[in-house]
Amino acid sequence: MHSIPLAATAAIATTFAGIALADDDLRAQELREDAQYMFEPIPLSMPDMPNNILSTDRIALGTMLFFDPRMSRSGVFSCHSCHNVGIGGADGLEVSIGHGWQKGPRNSPTVFNAVFNIAQFWDGRAADLAEQAEGPVQAGVEMNNTPDRVLDTLASMQGYVDAFATAFPGEDDPITFRNFALAIEAFEATLTTPNSRFDQYLMGADTLDDQELRGLSAFMDQGCASCHAGVNMGGQEYYPFGLVERPGADVLPAGDRGRFAVTATVADDYVFRAAPLRNIALTAPYFHSGVVWSLEEAVAVMGVSQLGAELDEAEIADIAAFLRTLTGEIPQVTHPVLPVRSATTPLPED
Ligand code: HEM
Ligand code: HEM
Repeated sequence: MHSIPLAATAAIATTFAGIALADDDLRAQELREDAQYMFEPIPLSMPDMPNNILSTDRIALGTMLFFDPRMSRSGVFSCHSCHNVGIGGADGLEVSIGHGWQKGPRNSPTVFNAVFNIAQFWDGRAADLAEQAEGPVQAGVEMNNTPDRVLDTLASMQGYVDAFATAFPGEDDPITFRNFALAIEAFEATLTTPNSRFDQYLMGADTLDDQELRGLSAFMDQGCASCHAGVNMGGQEYYPFGLVERPGADVLPAGDRGRFAVTATVADDYVFRAAPLRNIALTAPYFHSGVVWSLEEAVAVMGVSQLGAELDEAEIADIAAFLRTLTGEIPQVTHPVLPVRSATTPLPED
């Protein structure tokens, strides 16, 4: 019997190790290519807004309006009350609290990267950010104001008269409700969060650890990415919440039938926009009902309700670890100094 010389054994072992290494490299490369096919990094430059002009003056005006509580009837609530840019662009509450301390029906979604969603709200009932911005001012449970009262308030302050004139040059009567909404939209278009570790990975850097890579792989293999894809990892399509198995009434309250209220079509019963998952680690509690505080639990709910899969604990931990890599660079927003009131500024009302 021939015995293999020691040096040859070592050479064979090295070759096997080489093949093993090449296999690992190939798998890692394939995973990255699959991810690059499914997802897109958040662009570093401002998005294109075909119906708006993102001038510095318009953005500055929009910032003022976003932070001004006098846009609400009570003088208490601004957009920022429920979309706090210091806590993920949301309010961290189960459901928002607005005018007269009323609880609204839904959890506040983040305004970060909202510009990339196909339509606004959990049910997509507003086509874009400008249309959306006209809603909360008038919603009884949010700011409980009227467009006329907002315009009277704005026209009563010289600071706003000047700011609207420079933000909408050449217009005879720039203080309109539409321009109010366009200015807010321009500000919101600046609230993007590029350069997350995941985006850096998509651009070729080795920024994810082994667990996060396993989570990314599971996120694609299990089918999460079929609904949560693209630049915002969601926000593009509508699906029944409970596609395979409807979650319990605590997570999916029977009274909120989602897009059914928008389209009055039976097929849209309990249909919601696949939530965008950017910065998801910052925006608990989860789902439109806001009852789930743990990301791991949200992942488990999705597994059962959307995929009919009981994910095991390790896989849930991996996916949650991956989702935590979606936190990007948070925009630094300076709280604006707001125009001073005048004798004709409407007074706060209950
Ligand atoms: C939804 C902006 C005021 C609570 C949204 C969305 C945006 C937004 C962009 C949609 C995000 C998405 O679909 O991903 C604004 C602006 C406001 C304002 C510009 C001021 C004009 C408020 C206030 C509250 C509030 C004061 C709380 C009292 C909510 C809630 C939703 C929402 C609960 C989800 C509603 C639904 O889907 O039916 N907001 N918001 N917002 N906002 Fe605001
Ligand atoms: C919401 C993750 C699969 C559609 C969510 C949320 C998370 C998540 C964390 C909550 C977002 C938030 O509250 O801001 C996942 C994971 C999945 C998965 C990890 C795979 C295990 C799917 C699939 C679909 C889908 C396959 C479509 C068939 C939705 C919808 C919502 C949502 C419609 C909004 C639910 C609501 O109205 O509250 N997903 N998802 N998801 N996802 Fe998924």
